[in-house]
Amino acid sequence: MSDRAFGRLLVTGGAGFIGSELVRQVMARRDGTRITVLDKLTYAGNRANLAAVEEDPEQAARFAFVHGDIADPAAVDPLVADADAVLNVAAETHVDRSILDPEAFLRTGVIGVHILLEAVRAEAAKDRIIRFLQVSTDEVYGDIPDGHSVETDPLAPRSPYAAAKASSELLIGAYHITYGLDVVMTRGSNTYGPHQHPEKLIPLFTTNALAGEPLPMYGDGMQVRDWLHVSDHAAGIDFVLRHGASGEAYNVAGAKLLPNRDVIGLLLEAAGRDWSLVRTVPDRPGHDRRYAMDGSKLAALGWVPRVAFEDGLPATVAWYRQHPEWVASARSGDWHGYYERQYGARLAAGRPVERQAEAG
Ligand code: NAD
Ligand code: TYD
Repeated sequence: MSDRAFGRLLVTGGAGFIGSELVRQVMARRDGTRITVLDKLTYAGNRANLAAVEEDPEQAARFAFVHGDIADPAAVDPLVADADAVLNVAAETHVDRSILDPEAFLRTGVIGVHILLEAVRAEAAKDRIIRFLQVSTDEVYGDIPDGHSVETDPLAPRSPYAAAKASSELLIGAYHITYGLDVVMTRGSNTYGPHQHPEKLIPLFTTNALAGEPLPMYGDGMQVRDWLHVSDHAAGIDFVLRHGASGEAYNVAGAKLLPNRDVIGLLLEAAGRDWSLVRTVPDRPGHDRRYAMDGSKLAALGWVPRVAFEDGLPATVAWYRQHPEWVASARSGDWHGYYERQYGARLAAGRPVERQAEAG
């Protein structure tokens, strides 16, 4: 099994949830790796997520932050020219926002990826081989009523978010075949942990529960997701960067398949609240009922997730409890407008859910 080392990484989207964990993890190894983050600082990006790196003199000396857009060649080209590997973590990432407003998903997820690939191709033309890693998602497989997705399964995305991610995978595969670029892709499952924007299920329900606000559960709450701790997701990306075979995609599967109702029950317990806060609200259009991936391709290379959901979830709830200023900053700007658009009518139509036993 190959173990490649990359001295200079360009990490796009490094101020977001998974990107910042990846940067913190790699920098904390103190192995001399230099990282440049390119981030547009959308509503989801937060420079404070990188404070641990920027406030540590040894790490800060190996780190640079560039505020810019992956869809802008003027920002991208010089940074790619200076890197040994590009890790594209940047994306618009929330399914509900992709249903309200798909365009930004295509701009960043398709055009942005194209601009990055063109920069890598320009370097390849000068005989400089740069590895390109795309962080993708289990959502490219679409709804999986039973069984587990393997990497050779067809892509069948069902939301604008998932369609943008699948499109980028097709483009990257084409650049590998046509131009011989060195590419790898990771398909991570639903990720949770500290620093996740409170628009996603676990941080939204945690912060609402801690504030005593209603929890908007879509439909019957029996949709199944495969939960992966952010430290495992970042470690899986770093592992694929160093050990993945060129042109291949790897499932980064989670440690726990659970229906949303079970996640909500565990979360309420950790937050010290009860089911009186939960409302069943009109469902998300096109809502995928179940995601489940087979992680054996990556396990055969030597990587499996480590954090048990039963440990990671209460620790995550505790992190949100301890970081009210971070939550307030994530809920600034357009947050209230978004919340009203997404949940105003839903919560007005919502019904209480007495207890978990109502499932199904
Ligand atoms: P996030 O929304 O927390 O962060 C995204 C980051 O990308 C932000 O810092 C944002 O400012 C930046 N960004 C957005 N558009 C940009 C652009 N055009 N140019 C430069 N930067 C831009 O996202 P996340 O949850 O950390 O997800 C990271 C990646 O992992 C995404 O590619 C996502 O599709 C993938 N993924 C996420 C999950 C999950 O559960 N969160 C699961 C599987 C895969
Ligand atoms: P989410 O965190 O948006 O991730 P994804 O859509 O990528 O799986 O949602 C996880 C699950 O939680 C999904 O089945 C939708 C559900 N959900 C709710 O029931 N209510 C909510 O307010 C949100 C954001 C999600």
